Amino acid sequence: MAEQKATNITWHNGAITKADRERLLKQKGVVIWFTGLSGSGKSTLANTLEEKLFEAGHISYVLDGDNIRHGLNKNLGFSPQDREENIRRIGEVSKLFADAGIFAMTAFISPYRADRDIARALLKEGEFIEVYAKVPLDVAEQRDPKGLYKKARAGEIKELTGIDAPYEEPLNPELVIDTSEKNLEESVQIILSYLKEKEIIR
Ligand code: ADX
Repeated sequence: MAEQKATNITWHNGAITKADRERLLKQKGVVIWFTGLSGSGKSTLANTLEEKLFEAGHISYVLDGDNIRHGLNKNLGFSPQDREENIRRIGEVSKLFADAGIFAMTAFISPYRADRDIARALLKEGEFIEVYAKVPLDVAEQRDPKGLYKKARAGEIKELTGIDAPYEEPLNPELVIDTSEKNLEESVQIILSYLKEKEIIR
């Protein structure tokens, strides 16, 4: 848990609430939290889902590990402590997006269960939808879109998740999508159906 350093700070509520923004946008502000190995399809799923939601008149925003590490989290590496801080910040940012009434979609490996659970605990029941992009390591390694597994096997990079850093599978995710068995269209449809069933979208 991050330390609370600042003292003498006061929380202010605005005149417009999350519920007001949700009514305006005709959607619910939720977090769709993708987790899984590098190459499991998290970013592809999130980006395709964003397109489908956009076409249907819904606003969302994808927070992607590789992108966020170029800016907000550029000072973090891949040690367990840095990954923890990475996910802590993204948990907070995604909560802000959800509070804005927007679907926050996060595509981070987020390998530690405890860190994902901290992000979940920031939201209300039903507002955090964990989607496990499940794929066997050998499939992710064959895909190797960024050539990272090859580099890790050659000893050129260290602490690659699945090779010499752990990945803790979710125990109770809202959705599990095996992207080695389902194609992209089917996978996105599973998430859209879930959002409809829970009346998060029309
Ligand atoms: S996380 O573990 O802290 O959640 P995050 O999703 O932000 O990771 O970043 C993962 C991305 O960083 C991968 O998709 C990959 O492109 C890149 N990367 C570079 N080095 C590593 C590494 N050692 N382990 C995992 N990902 C790495």
